[in-house]
Amino acid sequence: MDTETIDSEEWDELMLNLEATIPVYDRINRFATLGQVKKWRGLVRQKMPAEGRILEVGCGPGSFAEDVVGTDLVCLDPSALMLATAEPRVNACRTERGDSLVEFVEGKAEELPFEDNSFDGVCSLFSFRDWYDKRAGLSQVLRVLKPGAKVVIVDPAKMNQLHGFFGWMWMRIWVGAYARIVCKTSDHPWKWLTKTYVHFGTTKDYIRMLEEVGFVQVKGKAIFPGMATIWEAHKPELGKGCCSNC
Ligand SMILES: C[S@@+](CC[C@H](N)C(=O)[O-])C[C@H]1O[C@@H](n2cnc3c(N)ncnc32)[C@H](O)[C@@H]1O
Repeated sequence: MDTETIDSEEWDELMLNLEATIPVYDRINRFATLGQVKKWRGLVRQKMPAEGRILEVGCGPGSFAEDVVGTDLVCLDPSALMLATAEPRVNACRTERGDSLVEFVEGKAEELPFEDNSFDGVCSLFSFRDWYDKRAGLSQVLRVLKPGAKVVIVDPAKMNQLHGFFGWMWMRIWVGAYARIVCKTSDHPWKWLTKTYVHFGTTKDYIRMLEEVGFVQVKGKAIFPGMATIWEAHKPELGKGCCSNC
């Protein structure tokens, strides 16, 4: 595992551990972020276009998708179990609100099964860290976005080494202790949260990567209180420095 890739054996093990978090996912996330996760999800919703077709990459059990109001939403995840958890949860909320049903698609960021230029916005929350080839995944996101459209990514990156050290302590001690209690075992799947965090890069690493794959107007900054980073980037408008992905 490094800042760009995860080898296939480790990724398979990571996926099993992510699936094992499903029953306690929202509870531990709320605790781990001192309740801030709700605000971060709201921030991403605000940054997505109010109309058009939106893709969430790595939807997990549907924690973000259930509160997306109105827009035409597609949720992608490589785990059939995650999708089976998310679909009834999200579509029950959508039906209650009178929104169109979400389309759930099994797939990976690195091989998005969608046509070029087919989304008005793409977002990914707490998933980018788990992509086994982050550069390939971002290139795919660029390909499926319409010219001028935006990707928003949230994940806990480090600002620098010292910040990374405090982040590691927070996850290992604070989140680890709570996960041990909730999961009733010291061998809980949240250990993988710490592991992927340690190997994940800095905010700047992924600003650079977004620029290198062809995004423009790239921004990345820590979100209060510094536990997560939000990146925003646009696909170039047609005829304005558009790359081979346009
Ligand atoms: C921690 S969950 C995030 C769930 C949700 N987005 C949220 O806001 O809480 C991470 C998800 O990313 C998915 N994932 C892992 N590797 C992926 C990849 N290569 N492409 C797309 N999704 C991936 C996992 O299956 C998992 O469901």
